[in-house]
Amino acid sequence: MTKVMPLAKRGISNSRLALGCMPFGGGWDAEPFTEQHVKEAEAAVEAALSIGITMFDHADIYTKGKAEQVFGRVLQARPDLREQIVIQSKCGIQLGEGDLPGRFNFSKEHILHSVDGNLERLGIDYLDVLLLHRPDPLVEPEEVAEAFAKLKSSGKVRYFGVSNMSASQIKFLQQAIPDSFAVNQLEMSLNHLHFVDHVVHVNQQAGTEVNFAEGLMEYCRTEDIQLQAWSPLAQGKFSGRDIKDEPKHIQQTAQLVQQMAADKETTAEAIVLGWLMYHPAMIQPIIGTSNPERIKACADAERQASLMTRDEWYTLYVSARGTLLP
Ligand SMILES: NC(=O)c1ccc[n+]([C@@H]2O[C@H](COP(=O)([O-])OP(=O)(O)OC[C@H]3O[C@@H](n4cnc5c(N)ncnc54)[C@H](OP(=O)(O)O)[C@@H]3O)[C@@H](O)[C@H]2O)c1
Repeated sequence: MTKVMPLAKRGISNSRLALGCMPFGGGWDAEPFTEQHVKEAEAAVEAALSIGITMFDHADIYTKGKAEQVFGRVLQARPDLREQIVIQSKCGIQLGEGDLPGRFNFSKEHILHSVDGNLERLGIDYLDVLLLHRPDPLVEPEEVAEAFAKLKSSGKVRYFGVSNMSASQIKFLQQAIPDSFAVNQLEMSLNHLHFVDHVVHVNQQAGTEVNFAEGLMEYCRTEDIQLQAWSPLAQGKFSGRDIKDEPKHIQQTAQLVQQMAADKETTAEAIVLGWLMYHPAMIQPIIGTSNPERIKACADAERQASLMTRDEWYTLYVSARGTLLP
C-alpha cells in the first residue's frame, strides 16, 4: 500500500524530513548574531537541500528571534529559494523577562503581533504554516479564529496547525476555526516513546506512567493532520553522542542501532529516523542538527523506513522501552 503524508495530501509539502532551525543564530542570550552564524545557517540549509529537505521549522522565540533573522539573511542571499521551500513558524510562547515568568498567549493581539514579527525577521511576505506552539489554558477559540481569519485574508499565513496539543484541545479550537489544522508537532523518538506506549498500555498498571493524550495519534490520522516529531534524533543518544551516564537499556539500544546501521550499510541517524518513519502515521521528523555532515547522515532515513521489518521495529521499540511488552 503506497501511503502519502498528510502534508502532501493537502498540497503543502512532500518533504519527508524537515530541518528544525532552533539552533540558528547562536545562543538564547541578548548577544546579536554574527556573520559566522549566517555562514553556519547557510551551510546547514545547503546540506538540507542537498538531501531533498524543502521544509524548514521555526518559532518566534528560537534564539530570541535570531534564528529567524539569520534564516532571513540566508533567503536574502538566495532570493530564488523562497518559492522552492516551505517555511513553518510558531507563536504563542512568551519568554520570561524581568519578574515575569515564561507564559503562553493565544490572544488575538499577540498572535497578530507575533506573525508580523515572524515575517519581518524572516524578510518574507507570508508563512506557509503557522503553529500555535503550546496550549494556552486561557485560550478563547473565537479570538484565535478572528486572528487566523485576518492572517488568512491578508495573505500572511496559508495554513494553520498546532504543537503539543491533545485531540480534545484541537477539537475545541476547531469548533471556532473553519480551516482544518494541517499539523500537530509533538516530541516523539526512540527516547520519547509515550506516543507508542499509550497504545500498548491501555488497561495496564504501567499505563498510569504514560503521559500522552488518549486517542491523539488516532485522531490526527483520521483527520489527516500531519504529525511532526520534534527531537527525533533524541539529541544523538543512539547515534554517537557520549551516553556513558545513561541507563543500561539506552546504551544497549544505541549499540543495537549502530549494529543495524553497520549491517544495512547506512548511518545510525537513518535507523533512528527510519524507526519513526516506519509508523503508519507517516510522521515527519523535524531534525535539529545544524551540522552539515550530520544532516547528510539523515539522507537514507526514508529508504531505511521502507526496508525496516515489523520485527526490527518492535526490537528497537522494546529495547528502548527497557521493559517487555504486556
Ligand atoms: N514544538 C516544540 O515544542 C519543539 C520543541 C523543541 C524542538 N522543536 C523543533 O524540533 C527541532 C529538533 O529538535 P532538537 O534539536 O531537540 O532535536 P534532535 O534532532 O533530536 O537533536 C539535535 C541536537 O542533537 C545534537 N546531536 C545530534 N546527534 C549528535 C551526536 N551524534 N553527537 C552529539 N550531538 C548530537 C545536535 O547537535 P549538532 O547541531 O552539533 O549536530 C543538536 O543539538 C528543533 O530545531 C525545533 O525546530 C520543537
